[in-house]
Amino acid sequence: MDLPARLRLLASLVLPGQPAADIGTDHGMLAVALALEGICPRVLACDVGEAPLAGARARVAQRWKSRRRVELRLGDGLAPLAVGEVATVVIAGMGGERIKGILSARPDVVAALSRLVLQPNTEPEALRAFVAQAGHLLEDEHLLCENGRWYPVLVVRPGAGAPVTWDDWDLRWGPLLRARQGPGPAPLPGGRATRAARALAQARAGGARDEALAPLIAELQAIEAELARLSMAPGALKGRG
Ligand SMILES: C[S@@+](CC[C@H](N)C(=O)[O-])C[C@H]1O[C@@H](n2cnc3c(N)ncnc32)[C@H](O)[C@@H]1O
Repeated sequence: MDLPARLRLLASLVLPGQPAADIGTDHGMLAVALALEGICPRVLACDVGEAPLAGARARVAQRWKSRRRVELRLGDGLAPLAVGEVATVVIAGMGGERIKGILSARPDVVAALSRLVLQPNTEPEALRAFVAQAGHLLEDEHLLCENGRWYPVLVVRPGAGAPVTWDDWDLRWGPLLRARQGPGPAPLPGGRATRAARALAQARAGGARDEALAPLIAELQAIEAELARLSMAPGALKGRG
């Protein structure tokens, strides 16, 4: 089945041969693909909104072969799931704070999972801080660019780690992504640096005084220090972000 690259990556991270749940399924594309392609014997496609769930229902009906394997459930976060009902839970396309809230609300459901696949659209640092403090194991991290936008994806084994402390940069860019980063393009810090530099230039052009721009200047300096740590060649990021 044709899937956008982001959803294809998420599908590849779901534990095969075991039931899965897609929380915030919306269009239902991921759930249908997991069922149609035989990756999961059963998929629970859940959403808090009636309208998105209706969209998912229509897609399942269209792909009639997926009907046997996909079950649609209305509800907030993990509420539609019973403890131990699925092996993998995917939560994608929401803010990191919201994903954190969903996980925090049902520690019993989370503890019984083998895998969480989490793709925050924003605030990844809040989600990483939660994973670190809750003693979940961050097994892997991916970074994917689709339509000019960068998406981090976290693969987590619930309860398999010890609480750890990550510094600010690990929380923002991902400890495993940073550790893996050799010389070469570093898309997230690079994109941020480009945006911060542009904002600073605009503010100065608009007559803002440097005292008023101290937080922005500090942000840019911190990013530049991070890029230096990653052995980035100056100029390597032009046009990124
Ligand atoms: C932007 S869509 C993402 C759809 C899909 N997961 C993806 O990544 O393409 C976000 C969906 O999450 C749903 N959602 C938001 N908060 C939720 C919650 N607390 N529980 C379940 N679904 C939620 C919304 O109704 C919406 O359908």
